[in-house]
Amino acid sequence: MADQLNALQAVRCTCEDSNVSAPIPRWEPLSEAVLADQRGTYDRMRAACPLAESPRGITLFRHADVVAAANDPATFSSAVSAHRMVPNSLDPPEHAAFRAAINPFFTPERMQALEPSLQRIAQEIIGALPRGATVDAVTEIGYPFAVRAQADWLGWLGIEEELLAWMADNHAATRSADRSRTAAVAAAFDEIVLAQVRRRRQMGTAAPKDPTTELLSVTVNGELLSDADIVSILRNWTAGDLASMAAAVGVVAYFLAAHPDVQESLRANSDGLAAAIDEMLRIDDPFLVSRRVTTAAVPLDEFVIEAGKRIYLNWTSANRDESLFTDPDTFRPEEHAAHNLVYGAGIHVCPGRPLATLELVVAVQALLGMTIGIELATDGELVRETYPLGGWRRVPLRLR
Ligand code: HEM
Repeated sequence: MADQLNALQAVRCTCEDSNVSAPIPRWEPLSEAVLADQRGTYDRMRAACPLAESPRGITLFRHADVVAAANDPATFSSAVSAHRMVPNSLDPPEHAAFRAAINPFFTPERMQALEPSLQRIAQEIIGALPRGATVDAVTEIGYPFAVRAQADWLGWLGIEEELLAWMADNHAATRSADRSRTAAVAAAFDEIVLAQVRRRRQMGTAAPKDPTTELLSVTVNGELLSDADIVSILRNWTAGDLASMAAAVGVVAYFLAAHPDVQESLRANSDGLAAAIDEMLRIDDPFLVSRRVTTAAVPLDEFVIEAGKRIYLNWTSANRDESLFTDPDTFRPEEHAAHNLVYGAGIHVCPGRPLATLELVVAVQALLGMTIGIELATDGELVRETYPLGGWRRVPLRLR
């Protein structure tokens, strides 16, 4: 890694002729050295160079470049995969029609109606954890809370164990980097989702009144959604975001345990809890990257990104860019909120943000309200997560 960084410095130093585009520096984002300290590597990469290329594509590290790309969907298309993902892989104008159909599922009124059952779930999970013994915030709080909260919201009751087992398979398949294994796990998830859709079609007017049933009567451009698009929407509301939610719980729990001053002040007054959680996630954003593909050549400083290049918008790096967050590890919720990119930017900005925020606020309220102290356990190992996720894989805690 040191050699790669020296090479990056050298690239920047030798680019004095403004008429010639510089070669984009190379890096190996999935090398053992990078995976061992993803966030630290991104910090060093960003300091050395705004972008770097690997056989997987070109990564943008700076806040300004990530925001510019996210706000220019004509040049940075989301049609990166052969698979249609609704709305994630759609570009304008199709994207807007689907977002208009999806956004109403996350209104403040709907979130308010969900709050009591989310509180019950959080309290059951935190209440069942032992006091004074080591517990893992990710697998014993994050996973079960994310799964039960999503199942409750979507009306998928009774399949929580199946979803938890699927999450474990999905994690293992992702880490194996074996494409046939990840494809099999994705197909298994589609079957879980399709079963929910089919059941509701069969039940007709007797189907439960939940967001899954509602999707059956949603129209886009005057037409009902196809089963394939309904499954795709539900997959994007669950498959990826269960992992993001569980990882986010780990990041927030770690931060609270590692910063007793912040923990105590939120325990005394939880008014600014949502903003505090956003700031904890900015410092250690578990949602690492989003993909794009360039539709035209793009100049960036002394470099030129060619058309047809796979791009990675590195949210984790952008959220720590010193040009906006002077000391990226400093906790300043109000000051940093305007530039926080945890939920993305531009037309693909996360529609699930209100739900994610509500779930995290409710989980932290239960954690703080049902304990008198949260500490890092000294007899367990803190383990970082690796690509495609960030944050923590294991956060051993002791609840008092
Ligand atoms: C802490 C949890 C979460 C984080 C950090 C997160 C972050 C993000 C980010 C950064 C994007 C932008 C992707 C891009 O630009 O390509 C995004 C998009 C998206 N998120 Fe989330 N998200 C979270 C939870 C959720 C939840 C709970 C849902 C749904 C229930 C959700 C649904 C979506 C969907 C459907 C998109 C794609 C939107 C589009 O393409 O227009 N997310 N999310």
